Amino acid sequence: MSTDMKTPHCLVFDSGMGGLTIVRSLQKMGFEGRLSYAADTGFFPYGDKSDADLTRRIPKFASALIEHARPDIFVIACNTASTLALSIVREIVDIPVVGTVPAIKPAANASGTGVIGVLATPGTLRRAYTDALVHEFARHLTVRTHGSVILVEQAEEVAAGEMPDMMKMRKEVEALTSQPDGDKIDTVVLACTHFPLIRNELQSLFGKNVLLIDSGDAIARRTLSLLNERPKQAANTPLPGQTLYLSPTERKPERLIKVAQAYGFETVETVELD
Ligand code: DGL
Repeated sequence: MSTDMKTPHCLVFDSGMGGLTIVRSLQKMGFEGRLSYAADTGFFPYGDKSDADLTRRIPKFASALIEHARPDIFVIACNTASTLALSIVREIVDIPVVGTVPAIKPAANASGTGVIGVLATPGTLRRAYTDALVHEFARHLTVRTHGSVILVEQAEEVAAGEMPDMMKMRKEVEALTSQPDGDKIDTVVLACTHFPLIRNELQSLFGKNVLLIDSGDAIARRTLSLLNERPKQAANTPLPGQTLYLSPTERKPERLIKVAQAYGFETVETVELD
């Protein structure tokens, strides 16, 4: 950790914009310190990549980022990355690493009907880690799952102020609710950090009686506790002048840059991977 623990530097990382939902939770809980954001724009989206490719890419980008930005704590704000590579990243870096995994436990506790849904990327749903969470916390329930890359793309568009394609999103929601007992789903895990960006659209498609649960606040609380900070009520106004780190891309990711700016990430730097 840095010598000045009064202003810790927290670096939040995702493939794209999803991790900004964790940033929002940190800002809401009054995180005191420097916040940076990193997106692996050159390899986005993660959800449809092979496990072998992601296992090579994530630790490589994580260590390049940490070497470049020198944070005190690293938050992998991505279920697809954490369920595959959290332990590998922890092994190769020497700062605390917080991972983001599907909120199966709170969803299982919240369900009255005993039928829960999990919306994630196809990658997250393939993971033994996710199976283990279901086995540990929800094996007494019926768990229906759907993996979607379309919802990740929709989230990036909607966050940038573009019109949501409700027809496209409805199809994704129905891929979950049309499964056996899908009509009894009363709780849905948003097991991709992108999905809270389209929470309103998803809520209107599932109906107001379905509870949508994500990991944002839990991850923010865990991060604060590792930094010995207590969550507090904050104005939720981002501090300006923070840095956005990107991996090299062929085309400038204008949309991401614009959305990240609204969260206070105004300086953009590209981090090379060797
Ligand atoms: N935001 C990521 C997650 O939580 C995945 C998005 C992607 O497919 O790149 O899983």
